[in-house]
Amino acid sequence: MKLLTIETTCDETAAAVITDDLKVLSSVVASQDALHKRFGGVVPEIASRAHVERILPVIDEALRKANTKLSDLDAVAVANTPGLAGSLLIGLTAAKTICVAANLPLLAVNHLQAHVYACRIASGRDVFPCIGMVVSGGHSNLYRCDGPTDFTPIGGTIDDAAGEAFDKVASLLGLPYPGGPSIERAARTGDPRRHRFPRPLLDDPEHLNFSFSGLKTAVRYLVSGPGKIEDVKPAACKLSPQDIADLAASFQEAVIDCLVGKAELALQNTGYRTLCVGGGVAANGRFRTRLEDSAKLNRYELHVPPLALCTDNAVMGAIAVERLRAGLFEDLSLDISPVPERAAKR
Ligand code: KG4
Ligand code: ZN
Repeated sequence: MKLLTIETTCDETAAAVITDDLKVLSSVVASQDALHKRFGGVVPEIASRAHVERILPVIDEALRKANTKLSDLDAVAVANTPGLAGSLLIGLTAAKTICVAANLPLLAVNHLQAHVYACRIASGRDVFPCIGMVVSGGHSNLYRCDGPTDFTPIGGTIDDAAGEAFDKVASLLGLPYPGGPSIERAARTGDPRRHRFPRPLLDDPEHLNFSFSGLKTAVRYLVSGPGKIEDVKPAACKLSPQDIADLAASFQEAVIDCLVGKAELALQNTGYRTLCVGGGVAANGRFRTRLEDSAKLNRYELHVPPLALCTDNAVMGAIAVERLRAGLFEDLSLDISPVPERAAKR
């Protein structure tokens, strides 16, 4: 069986053709980084307009590369939650239209669960049950994953997402968008011990939540002193390249301490022995090394996908294969849900 998967939750327009045994026949990703760069972040209106222009060429290219016609497909899967409303609507409308035109069943993809499932695709073997951690531009979430269609949220950020913090701090330091790769590059020559930034919520053994907004403010105060956000950029120019490298390295280490610490706590609290990490921030080399060290020390199985499966893509939409097997089809009333499901309050 063959599935067409569509991903337009944020600023990447992506489509892939995948078999039910998780063979990737094609994968196309049209990035919008160049469009959003000068704004230092994703502009929702620009993102949805770009999706409208790109969605059909991207789907056509995915089908062509997979040597597949619409009539060869068995289902269409689309990420309908969470994400930017305007962006989600473009992918969902395209998927529904193809389903009507080619008389195909429709499957829903939860974008965050798909980020975790990227580990299943990359490893080529079962990874469940596991703790799933998604760290991206819009989300920092922890899940108890008892199976590929059985995810329970157990923690998340109470303010900014980890990737968002990378993007905002990069902008404070005058580094280009997207901030994650820029901070990682700058941090390579920096001293992570020069500044001791806060590790919010890390020493709270009860909760699996993150908070990154205070950390971002701590960097801002260090750069320019307390004051208006507009004051920051000129001050950042006065920083030497070594200052910027040290700030980037110290900030990166603080974020990673929080992420690794809470992942360890989630494993400890649940007794699960497998950790699957996904999302754009999982592309960070220092984070990957720290996770590997933690896995060795604490003797758990770690899965982190290759870089192309960490950032947004349609291949991870292959999680829909599991819904297809379970008979979890959608009808044409399927809607978007921009906001993610949250962990139950304790
Ligand atoms: O998963 P993703 O592609 O899109 C969302 O669903 O948000 O994640 C994008 C985020 C951005 O905030 C970007 O700065 C961050 O992932 N990112 C990184 C790295 N590469 C991408 N963060 C830290 N280090 C990286 N190397
Ligand atoms: Zn994502």
